[in-house]
Amino acid sequence: MMGNKPHRIGILGATGLVGQRLVQLLEGHPWFHVRAVGASERSAGRAYADATSWRLPSAMPAEIAGLEVRRCRAADFDDCTLVFSGLDSPVAREAEPDFAAAGHAVVSNSSAYRQAVDVPLLIPEVNPEHLGLLTAQRRRTGGGYIVTNPNCSTIGLALAVAPLHEAFGIKRMVVTTLQAISGAGAEGPRALEMLDNVVPFIPGEEDKLEIELAKILGRVGDGCVSFDGLVVSAHCHRVSTVDGHLEAVSVELEGNPSPDDVGRVLETYRGKVGELGLPSSPERPIVLRHEPDRPQPRLDRDTGNGMAVVVGRVRCCRVLGIKFELLSHNTLRGAAGGTLLNAELLAKRGLLVER
Ligand SMILES: NC(=O)c1ccc[n+]([C@@H]2O[C@H](COP(=O)([O-])OP(=O)(O)OC[C@H]3O[C@@H](n4cnc5c(N)ncnc54)[C@H](OP(=O)(O)O)[C@@H]3O)[C@@H](O)[C@H]2O)c1
Repeated sequence: MMGNKPHRIGILGATGLVGQRLVQLLEGHPWFHVRAVGASERSAGRAYADATSWRLPSAMPAEIAGLEVRRCRAADFDDCTLVFSGLDSPVAREAEPDFAAAGHAVVSNSSAYRQAVDVPLLIPEVNPEHLGLLTAQRRRTGGGYIVTNPNCSTIGLALAVAPLHEAFGIKRMVVTTLQAISGAGAEGPRALEMLDNVVPFIPGEEDKLEIELAKILGRVGDGCVSFDGLVVSAHCHRVSTVDGHLEAVSVELEGNPSPDDVGRVLETYRGKVGELGLPSSPERPIVLRHEPDRPQPRLDRDTGNGMAVVVGRVRCCRVLGIKFELLSHNTLRGAAGGTLLNAELLAKRGLLVER
């Protein structure tokens, strides 16, 4: 908030799946007000309702429906303090630095700058201290900055393993993902590819899981992050669920804790921002289920308004010591909700500078 007034917000890629989720989540938000929406040349100049094939069950918010879609150029968003980016990575790579150079705070879903040395790869509960990178970044840009959230399958995994890393120390880990179709965006795979099928390849996804986790759990110092030394091996699959990425994890922990020890750590975890009262914070970032057949995407993806990671089946692994399943909502916690929580932390820390 600026005094009593909400911050003025723009959404880049507002017509896409992540952009639509942002539009939905920002309706009636206490700190943020959507002033502008942007998309490609195909959509620019049209009313948002005409340019968007709306894919969510709730109605499109009336005050956004009539907004004229803008081009994704910094000069066209002069009236916004913060822009959320739901742009495809190649487009984001070109556009986001221009917005930062023009003084905007850019809170991005794209992978374009996740590995840049002075760009925080942020999960508020896990590594809020990584916002310390912004001092170096702002010196470079002259005022604005980019903050990114991790890949949609990394966020759930990082939230679930961060407390285990803190309590015991992780040596090695193998993760197998079963990822929902919505993770591939509005123009995702065709029905003929997905029905009666599982696709055992998602371009770039295994590398993202393996590399991003080491940055998220790394330590910040001297304007950069020293990556954590944990070793991760990922297998990623696209399956025919609509929303919610399910992941099977086997992990080797220091000291060989029992499944009960691990369950207690997960169940009592509250993360590092629980006391801040951020509007999108789930009450519990990790919800532990004790039934033998949970979590399941259809039943559990909306837990904590889609912002909690649901963990179940914590048990012994004959190879690495501990194994469990986790589920997180890919367009909520894994994308739009994750960036919104990041933006709320920026606001709370006084890092949204009026232009
Ligand atoms: N889906 C997920 O679960 C998920 C999770 C985490 C991160 N992400 C990341 O979030 C980003 C958006 O994903 P998505 O699933 O929402 O994709 P999407 O549905 O394909 O939407 C892409 C958006 O980018 C816009 N766009 C495309 N080309 C453009 C250009 N040249 N200039 C300006 N705007 C352009 C599109 O506008 P038009 O409608 O005008 O074409 C649309 O608004 C991607 O970087 C993705 O990797 C997605």
